[in-house]
Amino acid sequence: MTDAVRKLELRSFGRRRGRKPSDRQAALLADVLPRVAVDLAAPVVSQTTTWLEIGFGGGEHLIWQAIANPHTTLIGCEPFEDGVMKVLSAIEERGLSNIRIHMGDARDVLRALPDASIARAFILFPDPWPKRKQRKRRLVNSALLKLLARVMQPGSELRIGTDIGDYARTMLEAFQNEPAFRWMADSPADWRIRPDDWPQTRYEAKAAEEGHQRTYFRFSRV
Ligand SMILES: C[S@@+](CC[C@H](N)C(=O)[O-])C[C@H]1O[C@@H](n2cnc3c(N)ncnc32)[C@H](O)[C@@H]1O
Repeated sequence: MTDAVRKLELRSFGRRRGRKPSDRQAALLADVLPRVAVDLAAPVVSQTTTWLEIGFGGGEHLIWQAIANPHTTLIGCEPFEDGVMKVLSAIEERGLSNIRIHMGDARDVLRALPDASIARAFILFPDPWPKRKQRKRRLVNSALLKLLARVMQPGSELRIGTDIGDYARTMLEAFQNEPAFRWMADSPADWRIRPDDWPQTRYEAKAAEEGHQRTYFRFSRV
């Protein structure tokens, strides 16, 4: 990507670092991360089915899918170091060999991926950016859909969750204007009920506790 394009792209995430890593966490970052980091020059492992999760937060969903789908490679993108350390810890403790991590902006991975290389993608509860003047930072917009459309395989599924009503509406508008995707919904149950193979994330649990209605979108790459 040129620097000019990067400058036009607004930052869609908040802080990248929380507390100072413990010695064990520092060791995970130093020893395990380089082993599992996505190589932007060759981002997919050939001959394997590859799924992509954008903004995995604490990694609950990414780890669940990696365990449930041992023959699938999961690329997880997350700029927040604490979340990355949680996943690195699970990789070590559970001996997971099918997770690759990009500690940074998922859009850099999307630009690096080959055409039609992703068999499923997830964006679960992207940052809400609730204030009116922050809304332009929201990750899910027409530009992101263009990036996703190129890398997703025909017939593949894109899952997006949100608990923010006006974000859900603007997402649907963006999808309506993007012929590469079709909304997989016949009745309200299709977006109100979370599928069994879509485990709850930490953010979603908090949203549920606060009484927020959640929306579970599924789109098919045409
Ligand atoms: C509200 S949190 C939700 C985290 C998790 N998916 C969950 O449901 O618990 C949104 C996450 O997306 C990450 N994020 C925001 N912009 C991103 C980007 N451009 N690339 C990758 N991750 C991003 C943030 O750092 C944050 O961890």
